[in-house]
Amino acid sequence: MNRYVIANWKMNVPPEGIGGYMDVLENAPAGDAQVVVAPPFLYIPELVKKARRIAVGAQNCGDRKSGAFTGEVSAAMLRDAGAWFAIVGHSERRGVYGEGDELVGRRMALAVENGLTAVLCIGEDLSVRDAGLPRVTEHLSSQVRAVAQAADARPGGVVIAYEPVWAIGTGRNASGAMVAETVAQIRSAVTQFWPASRATTPILYGGSVTPDNVGDLVANGNIDGFLVGGASLDSRKFLAIYDGLVGRK
Ligand code: 13P
Repeated sequence: MNRYVIANWKMNVPPEGIGGYMDVLENAPAGDAQVVVAPPFLYIPELVKKARRIAVGAQNCGDRKSGAFTGEVSAAMLRDAGAWFAIVGHSERRGVYGEGDELVGRRMALAVENGLTAVLCIGEDLSVRDAGLPRVTEHLSSQVRAVAQAADARPGGVVIAYEPVWAIGTGRNASGAMVAETVAQIRSAVTQFWPASRATTPILYGGSVTPDNVGDLVANGNIDGFLVGGASLDSRKFLAIYDGLVGRK
């Protein structure tokens, strides 16, 4: 499966409870896209126990194998716990906690080396977007180029999530046409800077995705799925986004 719908709970738990949430998703009809749920670290084992078709992801992963790194959780530990995905470079990690491209690249390399699929988040802030497409392209290309070496690591996969910072949690999503135009630029940066084996890297969109705007993003965005924050905390909304991607009403 090369399409994904990923729930990023951030530092939240769904109000309906983990059991109820997982039941709704597990009992929904299957489609040709992988559902991934990324809870806070602590809940990963509980989700893994309940997951049959759903894959479980982490919201970050350590940039070292082991050692005196208080507060970090290694990629090997995440695999041990049953996670298959790790989000790296989320704009909240970059913006709130000051994570830069080099650190993100190390996290990504270890995720991939340990058999996790790394979900690499990239995106521009509003000042870059307002400066026009060439500036957006330059910004996103440099984020892709910065982790190029990490993308070469084996054997896990890489998925890119294009998440414009100005669209995250703001209720202001990018239009399908704008996403398509930007994704084409990301695709060309991947071809230019990453190993040939990554040419088909799936590219997801994230940023205020809801059941109401999923239609335009699917029809016009030229994307392989979604990374969903706020709307992923409600199993039915999240499922409606999944249904939008796989073409089910
Ligand atoms: P929202 O869907 O709440 O805008 O969050 C997007 C996001 O950051 C997912 O990683």
